[in-house]
Amino acid sequence: MDWWSNSAIYQVYPRSFQDTNGDGEGDLVGVISRLTYLKSLGIDAIWLSPFYLSPNNDGGYDVQDPRAVDPRFGSMEDAVNLIKAAHKSDLRIIVDLVPNHFSTEHKWFKAALQSLPGSLERSRFHFYDGRGESGEIPPNNWCSIFGGPAWSRVKEVDGKPGQWYLHLFNSTQADLNWENTEVKEDFEKTLRFWLDKGVDGFRIDVAHGMFKESGLPDVRSSWIEKIFGKNNLTRMLSPEHKPFWDQEGVHDIYRSWRKILDSYDGDRMAVAEAWVSPASRIAKYVRSDELQNSFNFEMLTTLWKADQIREKINNSISALAEVGAPTSWVFNNHDVVRSVDRLDLGLTNHGDTTFSRHGDVNKLDIARGTLRAKSATLMALALPGGTYLYQGEELGLPEVRDIPEDRLTDPRWKMSNYKDRGRDGCRVPIPWKSASDGAFGFSSNENLTLQQAWLPPSSWWGKYSAESQESDPNSTLNVYRKALAIRKNEPGLGDGAMEWIDAPSQVVAFRRGEDFACYINFGSEIELPSNSEVLHSSAPLNGNHLPTDTAVWLRVSK
Ligand code: GLC
Repeated sequence: MDWWSNSAIYQVYPRSFQDTNGDGEGDLVGVISRLTYLKSLGIDAIWLSPFYLSPNNDGGYDVQDPRAVDPRFGSMEDAVNLIKAAHKSDLRIIVDLVPNHFSTEHKWFKAALQSLPGSLERSRFHFYDGRGESGEIPPNNWCSIFGGPAWSRVKEVDGKPGQWYLHLFNSTQADLNWENTEVKEDFEKTLRFWLDKGVDGFRIDVAHGMFKESGLPDVRSSWIEKIFGKNNLTRMLSPEHKPFWDQEGVHDIYRSWRKILDSYDGDRMAVAEAWVSPASRIAKYVRSDELQNSFNFEMLTTLWKADQIREKINNSISALAEVGAPTSWVFNNHDVVRSVDRLDLGLTNHGDTTFSRHGDVNKLDIARGTLRAKSATLMALALPGGTYLYQGEELGLPEVRDIPEDRLTDPRWKMSNYKDRGRDGCRVPIPWKSASDGAFGFSSNENLTLQQAWLPPSSWWGKYSAESQESDPNSTLNVYRKALAIRKNEPGLGDGAMEWIDAPSQVVAFRRGEDFACYINFGSEIELPSNSEVLHSSAPLNGNHLPTDTAVWLRVSK
C-alpha cells in the first residue's frame, strides 16, 4: 500500500518550531535538533511549511526564489542535512510548493515592472489595463482573499499610473499566468530541484488556483456578496461559480507533474491543498494520473455534533472511493483557529471579523475544548486513510488570543482593515520547556525574552510545554503518542474499510478490521459494550462508562 494512505504526517511551521541561533525565529537546524522528539511521537513523515527565500509578507507563502533557502531559516546545506537526517530516522519529508503566485520581489516581477505593457516579461503574470477613462478602475471586480481588491496598479517606467496586476492574496503575491510556458517550465524545474535533493513529496499550495477563467470575467454581481462579502474561507468554500478557482486547466498541470514524480525512484507524492466543494470536486485532483493525495478539510468546518461528523465522514469516504484514493483527515493547520477553541466554540472557519472567525472568548471553556480535541485525535487516527497533524496539536495548544495588536504579522489583519486578527494565534512558537527562559525553550538563547520571539508567547504558555506533559500519562502529548503507537501495529487501522456500529444518536461508533472499535461520545455518559476491552481512551473513563466528549478505542468480540 502507498505510504501516504496510512501515514501520520506532522506539519512543521519552521519559523515557530525551534530557534538554534538565538534570533527569535525558528530554523532548519532547529528542526534537525527536534527529530528525536518527532520520532518519539510515532509519526511517519514531516511536512515543512515554506523556508524559501521570501520577504515574508505572508509567512513565506510569498516566494521570491523557490530554489533558495531564506537565510532566516539557514542554508541549502541545512535543508539537505535535514532531509538526510529525517531519512536516517525513517521519517519522510514533504515540502511546500506555491504555484499560484510569486512574491513581487521575484526577479520576474521586478523585470515585469521595468518592461512595457504587452511584453514577454509581463505575460508571466496577469497584467491588464484598467477600465474607466484613464484606466483608473481595476480590470474586473475580483477581491483578494485577505480583503480589499485583488488588483494593484503599477507605475510605468515613465512614472505614470499604468496597468494593474492580479493578486488573489496579498498585494505582494502576484498571481502567475499559467498559460505561459515559462511558468510551467520553471515549476517543473523546481519540482526536479527538490526531488533531486531527496524530498518525498510536495504540499501544493492553493492547488485549485493557478488557472483563471479565460477573459477573467467579473464575478456575477448577485454572487459578489456571497463570495466576497464574507472573509477568506467562506469565499474559498462557497460553491458558487468562481472564475479564479478550480478551473479544468489545473488538472493538465497535475497530470504532467505526476509523470515527473513517477519518474523518480522511491514513492514520491504530492498532496493538494484544494478548498473546493462539493467533495466530488476534490476527487478530481486525486484521479489515478493526477496527485496522490488531497487534504480533507471537512473537519475544519464541522461543529462538534455527532450527526454532522457522521455525515462528513460518509461524504469524505464516498467521494474519494469513486477514484480509489485514500482520504486524509485534518483538524489543524497554520491557517485555522486551533481545534481546542474551534471544537469548543463551534467555529466553522467562516466570517469576516475576529469575532466571527475566532468566536466569543468569554464563552470559551478550554478544558472542554481540550477534551474534544483529544477525542477528535482518536477519531481521526482510527478513521480510514492518513492524517495530517499540525505542530502543537500534540500538546493540545489552544489559540493564543492575547498577541498585542502591534505584534500581529498576518497580512489579513491589515487587509481586513483591522477587523480580523488573522492567523497568528495558531503560529506562536512551540513551548518546549515550562520555564520562560528562551521563550519557553523555543530558543537556544536562554536570555531571549518572550517579547523577543518573532511572535510573543503568552506568560501562561509554559503549562502547555512538552516538558510539563512528559510525565503525565493523561496529557495530550501522551494520549497522542500512545494512539500513534497502537495505530502502527493495529492491522485494522490506516486505509481500508470501516463499518458503522449501531449506537445512540449522540455517539459516533465504528468498527475497523476484525475486532477494533472506536466510540466518540458527544452526549451524556454511556455504558461501554460488555464484550469489549479498552485499548486507549482520550481521557480517563468512568469505570465501564464513556464520559461526555471522550473517545475510546476498544477490542471487541463479535
Ligand atoms: C495557502 C496557505 C496560506 C497562504 C495562502 C497563500 O492557503 O496555507 O497560509 O496564506 O495559501 O499562499
